[in-house]
Amino acid sequence: MAYRPYVVGVQEVSVEALELLREGVSGEILAKKLGTSRTAIWKFVRRLEDFGYVIEKRRGLGYRIVKSPDLSPYEVARICKGSKLIKEIYYYKVVDSTNERAKELGKPNVLFIAERQLRGRGRYGRTWVSEEGGLYFSITLPRLLPLEDIPKLTLTAGVALAKALNGKIKWPNDVLYKGKKLCGILCELVGCVENPMVVVGIGVNVNNETPSEGIALKDVLGRKLSRAEVLESVLKVFEEYYFKLTKGFWEEIREEWKKLSDTLGRHVRVETSKGIYEGYAVDIDLDGGLILSDGKKVYSGDCFYM
Ligand code: BTN
Repeated sequence: MAYRPYVVGVQEVSVEALELLREGVSGEILAKKLGTSRTAIWKFVRRLEDFGYVIEKRRGLGYRIVKSPDLSPYEVARICKGSKLIKEIYYYKVVDSTNERAKELGKPNVLFIAERQLRGRGRYGRTWVSEEGGLYFSITLPRLLPLEDIPKLTLTAGVALAKALNGKIKWPNDVLYKGKKLCGILCELVGCVENPMVVVGIGVNVNNETPSEGIALKDVLGRKLSRAEVLESVLKVFEEYYFKLTKGFWEEIREEWKKLSDTLGRHVRVETSKGIYEGYAVDIDLDGGLILSDGKKVYSGDCFYM
């Protein structure tokens, strides 16, 4: 099945149009301001309605947005307007997996975001249940990091998300709140081995129902949240930490990972492609590996608390 995205550039005029429509504006003035036709404005209004905006239309007065959805391509474009990382947005009402779409396009600096995923993927082939109400997105990163720094990037993403969501990190990058999973991160590589592109897929439980091992922000705070607001804070911190890493501040990030860690000091079992390792998690080393009490180091794997 082909999933059709709604593609928006972050500098698009529709963001400006949205601001004017919030205040209330006539079709004629809006068309003049944006240098477009009244028909184009009418089509834009219809599209907004498709995405859940309620628009009051008054003869002679024009249009005014009276109710906005908590997430839409235009909200996402507004959020990403000043971003140094995201230049384009692919917005889906429904998709198989944003990571899949990101890998297929293989273009850096794009944010893929979906209201729902039919085949959301977690680490180690698990399913990421992606019902309406959660945040599901993937970012394609520019090729700024050498391959050996990818484990650091995985941990860096965990630090950023834990900071933005006020959670703790289970190695390598699950974000937990009171021991339950609030957010999952799936980093994947695309392209040639010498110069791959990284796709960072992020799922945050916001207003959605979660499986029993998960928790949503609405359960933490006792009220529903605007997904756009959550996305805004998450992207801001993610971008800050991503550039911190590319500028060489890994030492600082590693210290923050340790402070936010839920794993260090625990007795763990880590299942890797090379075998199963058991011991106390004692540290994160300089190249991003988890050090166990017997001195063994693991860079990737499925971690279980004993
Ligand atoms: C994990 O904890 O196992 C990782 C979960 C990652 C889920 C996100 S949701 C957006 C992106 N698209 C996917 O199919 N997976 C990631």
